[in-house]
Formats: sequence, C-alpha cells, structure tokens
Amino acid sequence: MCGIIGYIGFECEKNLYEGLKKLEYRGYDSSGMTTNRDGKFNTYKSIGRVENLSNKIIFNNKNGIGIAHTRWATHGNVTLQNAHPHFSEDEKIAIVHNGIIENYIDLKEKLISQGVKFYGESDTEVIAKHFKKDISLEKFKSVIDKLKGTYAILAISCNSDKIFFAKNKSPLYIALDKETVMFSSDISCFFGKFDKFYTLEDGEYGFADKNSIIFYKNSKKISKQCNEIKSKLCISSKGRFKHFMLKEIFESKKVGNNILKYIQTSKVTKLINDILKNDIEKIYLIGCGSAYNAGLIGKRFFRLYGYDADCILASEFEHENIFINNKTLCIFISQSGETYDTLKVLDLCKTKGGICLGITNVEYSTLSQKSDYLLSLNAGVEKAVASTKAYLAQVVMCCLLAIKMKYLSYDNYILDNKNYDIYKRFGKEYYNLDINLNESNLKEIAEFISCFKYVFYIGKGVDYDIALEGSLKLKEISYIFSLALPCLELKHGTLALIDENTVTIAICSEQNLIDKIISSSQEIKARGGKVILLTICDIEEQYNKNFDRIIKVSSSGKLNFLNIIISLQKIAYYVATIKCNNPDMPKNLAKSVTVE
Ligand code: F6R
Repeated sequence: MCGIIGYIGFECEKNLYEGLKKLEYRGYDSSGMTTNRDGKFNTYKSIGRVENLSNKIIFNNKNGIGIAHTRWATHGNVTLQNAHPHFSEDEKIAIVHNGIIENYIDLKEKLISQGVKFYGESDTEVIAKHFKKDISLEKFKSVIDKLKGTYAILAISCNSDKIFFAKNKSPLYIALDKETVMFSSDISCFFGKFDKFYTLEDGEYGFADKNSIIFYKNSKKISKQCNEIKSKLCISSKGRFKHFMLKEIFESKKVGNNILKYIQTSKVTKLINDILKNDIEKIYLIGCGSAYNAGLIGKRFFRLYGYDADCILASEFEHENIFINNKTLCIFISQSGETYDTLKVLDLCKTKGGICLGITNVEYSTLSQKSDYLLSLNAGVEKAVASTKAYLAQVVMCCLLAIKMKYLSYDNYILDNKNYDIYKRFGKEYYNLDINLNESNLKEIAEFISCFKYVFYIGKGVDYDIALEGSLKLKEISYIFSLALPCLELKHGTLALIDENTVTIAICSEQNLIDKIISSSQEIKARGGKVILLTICDIEEQYNKNFDRIIKVSSSGKLNFLNIIISLQKIAYYVATIKCNNPDMPKNLAKSVTVE
C-alpha cells in the first residue's frame, strides 16, 4: 500500500502535504517529507496520521522540489526510522517507494559486506543505500534493474533539480503544467490543479524537471500520450455525520438507484451485447475482501439465470488450476481498482484470452484502464476504509448484470414471465431500500454485542454470503473476534466454541429458511450462547424464546437482503463507536491494498 507524492514548483511543502492528506487512505502508520531548499534537504517525519506532520513542516512559498510518503508498514515496525523518505549513506539522496522489494535481504547483505551501514529495517532503505552524492539516469536505471518485486519509486538528490521515477506493478501518475510537476499514487491529487496527466506503465522510468518529463522504457526514450482529467473537483466531506462510514452507509440508497438507471442505459446494453457475442461458456467473479463477498452474491444470481458461474478469491486464483479461454468472462470486482491480487489475476486471465470485465468505483484506476470492458459503480468517493456503499453497489451491479445478461442473451429472446417480471418491476421493488430503519434497535444491539469477545454470524444460502460480510465489517472496525458460517455447519465443529461468552447473529431473508435458523439457534441456546435474529421474515410467537433479541427488517424487494446488509453495516459502525474506535481508519488496515 503506501502513497507517494513528488512535487516541483511553488509552495512545494503545502502541495506535498495536501497530497499526503488525499493519499492517507493508502496507509496511516507514519508519514514523511523531504524537500530540497537551495541544495539542502529538509526532512519531516511523524508517526500516525498525516495531520501529525503539519506542525513539524516549515512551509516555504518559493519554488522547490520534494517527495513525500504515507506508510502502511510492510517491512519493519512503525518507527520514525522506518518512515520514508529513506536516505543514501551520505544523506544526499532521498527515496520514497510504494511496493515490496522481494530481494531486499540479498541486496542488503551485499551492501553490508561492502561496509554500508543501515539505520532501519525497511526494504526501501536498501534502494537508497545504493546511491551516493548524486543521481544520474544510468545509475538510477542500474539500481532499478537490481530490484525484484513491486515498486513506484521517486528519488531526489540535493545536488539536482530533477525527480527520478520508476514503476513496476505499483501505480504512479504524473502531471505537468506551467513549470509545475506532480507525481502521485493516484490522480485525486491532481484535481483542481492540472487538466492532464500521464499514466506510467510497468517498466517505465525517467526523470522530470520543472519544464519537462523524459520517459524511458528498455533503455530507450519513449513518448507518451497524456490523459485528460474529466472529473470535477471532488471534495468529500462528512457533512452532518460524525464519520465518513456512517455518511457512506446513508448514501447507499442513492448509489443503488444510480446503478439501476445506469444498467438500463444503451451504453450498458451495447457493452453486454458485445460481451455476449463471445458465446460465454463460463463466468468467474474475482475480488478480495468485501468485493469477493459481493461476488459470492453475484455468482448466485448468474447461476439463477442459467450461467455456469463461480466466485474466486483473487489471492487464491492461481492455485485453483482454472481453465480460461476466449469464451470465459472474468468479472473483476474492486472498489479502488488498484488491489494488487485482483490486478494480478486480471493480467493472468488476459494472457489466457479471457474476456475481462472490470467493475470498479474509480474511473482512472488501473483496473479501469486494463479491463476489456468496464462497468462503473459511480458510488462517489468512499473514504472510510471499511467498504459500505461500494460493497452494496457491487452487489446490486452484479445482480442486475446477471438479470440483464439473461435478458439480452438471444435475439428476440423472450424471458419467461417470471424473469421478465423481475426485470420490468425491479426498479419499483428496489426502491424499498430503507436506510433509516431501526436506528434505535440497532444501537441497542450494538451495545449488547460490544460486551462480548466472540461474535458469530450464521445464515444459509445468500444469507451466509451476507453473514461473511457482516462478520468482516465487525472485526475490521470493532476489533472483536468474529466468524461467519453456514448455520447447519455449526454442529460440524464450531459449536465446540459456543458458550455464555459468545453471541451469534442469525440472518434470515427467506421465509422458507426460518426453520433452519430456529433450529440452529436452539443448538446455540442449549450451550448458553446468546442469539440475535436479524430477519425480514415472519416468525411465530412461540419461537421468540429462541432468541435474545429479534430485529425485524423491512423487505427491500427482489433483492430483499439489502436492508439486512445495511443493518449489519450499522451494527458494526455503532459497536466501533461504542468502543471509541475510529471506524474510518481502523488499525493495521488501509483503503487500497496495492501489495501482494
Ligand atoms: C472491507 C474492505 C476490504 C476491500 C478489499 C478489496 O471492508 O473494504 O475487504 O473490500 O480490500 O478492495 P477493493 O474493492 O478496492 O479491491
């Protein structure tokens, strides 16, 4: 993960600091900045949030050069020593890096044997320690050639007015305008400052000064096309909400409705028709974390509409020996569009001839650029690390895509009444999504749950997929241990963990499954465990005693589980706030996972 920025121009420190604030979602273990002022480096570092850096920086209006970094620790503890930038032994060269240098131990040992001294444990320091006095392009290239792994690197020397750069697998973008150059891990830093930017490809490197950027690949100078920034300046604020996470949960209704409109546009119809021309025989949905959980629900819908579909965790894909050819549709789901594991599978599927469809929330992301086809979630910036509105958008997009693909499958194909009905009436039924539901009940449940050390989530069918996501949300922001499982699996092992110190959230969105949930909860109650039922179904009064709490959630139409998803997100949010955690920035995590 980590975010890097470079800047050449006026108000260098201010621009680097503002950029760091925008990239903070990529990691917030520590941050740092080095600027070159009249041939001397000024370096500022701090632990924790980027704002901790602000009162250390000496801001200067004059022209300057600098690099900055916000860290998600991979190699070495969260210490000032391991915070970037990192320096050559003579402290004349400073480096920031996003990615992982896999052969850093070998490189480090070699340097140590040559007498080079290290101050920290970071893999990036190893890159910096290859330099002395100044950087030439040849020297820079020779060091880059030694590196194995992933990197976006920026390097400056106190003897030059250039920033050197290189990229392999980690994102890096550059913008240039009127004697100002900016480098960044994502293009949000360019909004409002630049109209155009360059996207670096793997293997590209070079240098920039205030007037030009020189690009190289394979030791040859290359010219590159720039892209226009079409997005408006998008500033995300918390508005009336205490945290971005709660605000984003409340935006879900609008987000879902937008997707409903988007999926019915002629642009999407054309895209699906183009895909269908390939006689799709197999569909894979691929993602990580919440995006994978969304894919699980999508898979059920594709199967419901007659497709042979599977959902695979991106990080496990290569071990599944999956056959891919030009009749395989590979659907990559990613909020950020920058998740390393997901992008790695995208590259693999492309080489095997698969048809790659990206579903992402970030217009200029690597996934957007590399996919053969793209469906935009258009959920707006998601700032909170825990995905809420984007996850819901992914679920809705996958389900609607399955329905629409079926609908467009054949020329003159008329869906049977049931399916056609769903497609036609979907809008109306989807609008039942209720984001204001049960606020006080959910807060009370959160109070109850926050006293427990172990929380289980159970469900069956699609409710199991939802349980997985509910459990993920709870653990990542409340730090309570949590596990999700299909309700009938309890007796195959996990029941051994159930006692009075556990609480289980049982989910039921289908009336015909309520009996199974009741019997599972009886098994839990018999072992002293507490059970909370979250359901849209009717339950006979005689069964109320099987539950410590019952939360009735209103149905949200054909995707009747959506209101349950929102309730689970809110429960996790309230538990986190009761425990005084910052739900927007959970410990040890980052919003964009750009490392393996
Ligand atoms: C959990 C969460 C993560 C992401 C995962 C994939 O709340 O946000 O599990 O879903 O890291 O990220 P994207 O969707 O950006 O590929």
